[in-house]
Amino acid sequence: MTKEQLFIQLTEALSDERLFFGHGVFDAQDEAMMVLMHVLNQSVEGILSSGEQEISSEVIMAAQQLITRRLHELKPMAYIIGEVSFAGLVFKSDERALVPRSPIAELILNKFQSWFNIEQVKTSLDLCTGSGCIGIALAKYNPHIQVDVSDISQEAIELAQTNIDLHLCNDNVRAIQSDLFENLTSRYDLIVTNPPYVSESEYQELPQEYKKEPKLGLTTPQDGLQIPVQIMLQAPMHLNDRGYLFLEVGYTDELLDDAFPAIDFEWVDFENGGEGVCVLSKEQLISYSGEFEKFLSKGKIL
Ligand SMILES: C[S@@+](CC[C@H](N)C(=O)[O-])C[C@H]1O[C@@H](n2cnc3c(N)ncnc32)[C@H](O)[C@@H]1O
Repeated sequence: MTKEQLFIQLTEALSDERLFFGHGVFDAQDEAMMVLMHVLNQSVEGILSSGEQEISSEVIMAAQQLITRRLHELKPMAYIIGEVSFAGLVFKSDERALVPRSPIAELILNKFQSWFNIEQVKTSLDLCTGSGCIGIALAKYNPHIQVDVSDISQEAIELAQTNIDLHLCNDNVRAIQSDLFENLTSRYDLIVTNPPYVSESEYQELPQEYKKEPKLGLTTPQDGLQIPVQIMLQAPMHLNDRGYLFLEVGYTDELLDDAFPAIDFEWVDFENGGEGVCVLSKEQLISYSGEFEKFLSKGKIL
């Protein structure tokens, strides 16, 4: 069997209506390529340029076994093979944290050029870091930035530390366990965050693959807005003057707009897909703080 024939076979096997794609892959074809890359230890370009090459029965079997597990366990493929690509880098991925898939990857690759000169950013925080993917990618492409990555989950922090070690970034990335900003004493030029933003009722409706991820990484009260609003309220105390917060709320963007009609949120336009990332300067966050307090008092957490 050639690589191309195996790719077709894997794509067909993955075109099963029980499967949902969205954890670092777009569809069955994309996931078949992810499996091939893993079993052949080759890049997409390498595979595409050698599609006629015959492959060994061991490799074919290894790929088929991964597909069998995927169909049986209904886990994201990233958890089955234990790794996933994000912002052009490979990260270890397992059940301790969500599978990396944030559109913030595009901002990192574009160096946030619509907002500032990245060379002037000296310190950054990836809040709610999970596997560490956002903060580590930021540090990898910008070694001049000192990055803190933090998460409430000790298990996620352990996975993030594994990824820091893997990418040899211990010099400029520090992992800190913290409930939001509780254990964070520094101020930053840039805070990026992909926090939980799913409501309990939406969570119940999600495909099986999401139920294999830690629920702590997905849900938050007040229709999925409580943690995002807490972050907006607290961020100014941890931002330097002229600092920015990039906050992902995904498809909860409309709810956020509706909850704060007086605020004209700036939403990022992504070229490679994705939505729901807003940008706020420290000054804007301070001026809206009364609105955020009012909202949180309705959820009785102030
Ligand atoms: C949507 S996941 C994002 C993970 C990662 N940033 C990514 O893009 O793949 C949200 C993360 O927030 C963490 N989290 C939930 N509540 C938190 C809190 N109060 N303080 C800090 N982190 C929290 C979860 O443990 C989870 O790892």
